[in-house]
Amino acid sequence: MIKKALCALPLALALVSTTSTAKAPEDILDELAAKSKSPYLTQSPQNRMMMPDNPAYDIAAEGEQLFKQKRGPKNASLEQCDFGKGPGVLKGAYVELPRYFSDTGKVMDFESRLVYCMKTLQGYTDNDPQIRQRHGNTDIMKLTTYIAMQSNGMPWNPPMNHPLEKAMRDAGEELFYRRAGPMDFNCATCHTNPSGTRIRASVLPNIKIPEEWTKAISWPAYRVGHEAVRSSQHRVLECLWQMRYPNLKPDSDVNIALISFWTDRARGQPAILPDMKR
Ligand code: HEC
Repeated sequence: MIKKALCALPLALALVSTTSTAKAPEDILDELAAKSKSPYLTQSPQNRMMMPDNPAYDIAAEGEQLFKQKRGPKNASLEQCDFGKGPGVLKGAYVELPRYFSDTGKVMDFESRLVYCMKTLQGYTDNDPQIRQRHGNTDIMKLTTYIAMQSNGMPWNPPMNHPLEKAMRDAGEELFYRRAGPMDFNCATCHTNPSGTRIRASVLPNIKIPEEWTKAISWPAYRVGHEAVRSSQHRVLECLWQMRYPNLKPDSDVNIALISFWTDRARGQPAILPDMKR
C-alpha cells in the first residue's frame, strides 16, 4: 500500500509542474537567442545548462512563505499588498513596474513598493533589518524572487499614462546618456556598442537590441559569481560603481528613473524570471 502511494507521488508532482509553468525561463532565452543570434544571449552555455536548477527557485520558495506569513509589529502578511494590479494580485504585476501609485503620489519601482507594503501593512520601519538589509540572502531578495517569477514570460509593459510615469522614464533616459564622473562615462559608453563587444569575459548587452535588452534587465537573477540572487537596484549600483559615480541610496528617484527607462526599452519582449547570470 505504502509502496503504491510512493510510486504515484512522482507522477503527481510531474503533473503539477508541467501544468503550472507555461514556458521555462531557459526556453524563453533559447527562443530569443535563435531569433537574434546574439552573442550576448549565448555567451554562457554553462549558465544555460544550470537554468532548470536555478538556485533562485529555492530562494523563491522561502519568499512565498515570507509573503504569506503574518509578521512585523502589525502581525500581518503581505497578501493585501497592491503592486499595481490590485491588492494581492501578483501575476503580471512585476512586468508593469515602475508605475504611478495614487496612494503615495509617486512613481515606484518594484523594490520601493515592496518596502512601502512592509512598512504600511506590517509596521516595519527603516531601522528594522527586514527593510535595511537589501542585498544578499535577505527577506527583500526572497520576496522579490517569488513575486517577480509570477511574471515569467510576460512582455515588459510599464504603463506610460500618468505624466509622472513619462517624466520618470524621460529622466532615466537623460541619466543614461549624460556623461559625468571622473571617467566621463555614461551608460551608453558600455551599452550601445555593436553586439558582441566585451569587457574582459563579459559580453555587454546593447540597449538598442530588444532581445538582448530583455535579458539584461531580467532581474532578479542568480549571479553565479556572487552565489546570490541580485536585484535591479543592485545592478544599478554595480554599474554606477564601474563608472566611479557616488553611491545611491536605496529607492532613490535616480534608481527608479533608470529602471523606468530601461524597462521601457525592453517593452514587448518576454521577461526571463528568474534569470541566471555570470
Ligand atoms: C564601464 C562600462 C559600463 C558602464 C559605463 C555601464 N555598464 Fe552596465 N554593465 C557593464 C558590464 C561589464 C556588465 C556585465 C556585468 C557582468 O557580467 O559582470 C553590465 C551589466 C549591466 C546590466 C545587466 C546585464 C548583465 O548581463 O549583467 C544592465 C541592465 C546594465 N549594465 C545597465 C547599466 C546602466 C543603467 C548604466 C548607467 C547607469 C550602465 N550599465 C553603465 C558595464 C558598464
